[in-house]
Amino acid sequence: MSVTNSPATAFPQARTCPYRPPAAYPELAARGPLARVRLYDGREVWAVTGHAEARALLTDPRISSDRQNPSFPAIVPRAEAQGERELPLIGVDDPRHARQRRMLIPAFGLKRIAAMRPWIQRTVDGLLDAMLAAGPGADLVSAYALPVPSMAICYLLGVPYADHDFFEGTSRELIGARGPEEARAARDKFVGYFHGLIEEKERRLATAGGSGGGLLDELVATSLADGRLDRDELVMIALLLLVAGHETTSNMISLGAYTLLEHPDQLAALRAEPGLMAGAVEELLRLLSIADGLPRVALEDIEFHGVTIRAGDGLLFPASVVNRDASVYEDPDTLDVRRSARHHVSFGFGVHQCLGQNLARAELEIALTSLFARIPTLRLAVAPDEVPVKPAGTLQGLFALPVTW
Ligand code: HEM
Repeated sequence: MSVTNSPATAFPQARTCPYRPPAAYPELAARGPLARVRLYDGREVWAVTGHAEARALLTDPRISSDRQNPSFPAIVPRAEAQGERELPLIGVDDPRHARQRRMLIPAFGLKRIAAMRPWIQRTVDGLLDAMLAAGPGADLVSAYALPVPSMAICYLLGVPYADHDFFEGTSRELIGARGPEEARAARDKFVGYFHGLIEEKERRLATAGGSGGGLLDELVATSLADGRLDRDELVMIALLLLVAGHETTSNMISLGAYTLLEHPDQLAALRAEPGLMAGAVEELLRLLSIADGLPRVALEDIEFHGVTIRAGDGLLFPASVVNRDASVYEDPDTLDVRRSARHHVSFGFGVHQCLGQNLARAELEIALTSLFARIPTLRLAVAPDEVPVKPAGTLQGLFALPVTW
């Protein structure tokens, strides 16, 4: 395989269609399961594009998620600030990672999320009532796609939704930061906010107020109280859960609605057979691959498919390419709500596989089903190519989605 001799492709690149990978990415797959790509700072890293190969490397203990490793690749300039503070879960390796994850698993397990479904349904119904009363016409992102997951993660964590302007704005600053200074400033705002919130929860617990009933309240009463978590670690866990809990799902709801509106035959199939929605959500996750380029670093030399991945080499996994591996998915560029899209890597793979996936699936299923059932005449209010798409990066989405009915 002539991988090392091929010229490196720039990564990440902007999508021209919100539900397709950038034009240069499919060519990466043609160069083999591993190809060299060039980051903004000129550094070359491996892009892993084959489905089996991505799953093998994502579960290889010689491949690390440790953001504090000096060789960890910064895929965008804002990531240069990533090593300054430990990023729990997603940014640490086992055994530290497993210890943190164990404390959180019950809150995101199938049973707890199934019990949350009626709450999600009521929330979705309320937002649709408000949209219908104010319409016709709305920005589906601000009226629906953002509040659904934002309200849900607040409810689960015990964060006051009244603060949503602050944390939604600060999340945008963090994820949209142009460089490390902006990322640092947004992160520090969050750190200050969560220190305050956690102190308030401790005070409340110590007085007659008792526990507020959210996951953060539980962690304050258990893991913080018995020393399994220190305050800084809990603050960073809260930050990660809050940001991960609404940014990703919000992008999936708006991009999912856009993609279905652009595929009327598939939308008609879903309307005729609402039972298809759970599978359709998997297919949308596969096709849209919104988290497009998970980063890693090699801890040791690894011989893999005829190449040597050296210790210190950066790797990334472009989900939009991995999820289109033609040896796994027939006709991979086509949206087919009837296909079995399971085994996509849109939630990652291995020990870091998305902790919030049960919650995300429940929200997506309920939000998309109710949206199209309650507003059967929903359509775009602008031409499809006028919808403002988030720039090249590792998290894809829409800034706004003007719709009418
Ligand atoms: C459709 C929506 C979502 C998508 C596409 C998504 C995607 C991902 C991906 C790809 C990873 C793996 C990262 C890696 O391996 O480096 C991940 C991890 C994670 N996600 Fe999600 N996510 C979504 C929703 C959520 C929600 C609702 C939460 C709730 C808090 C959440 C919390 C997390 C956490 C905590 C991790 C780190 C897990 C670990 O390292 O053990 N995500 N997510």
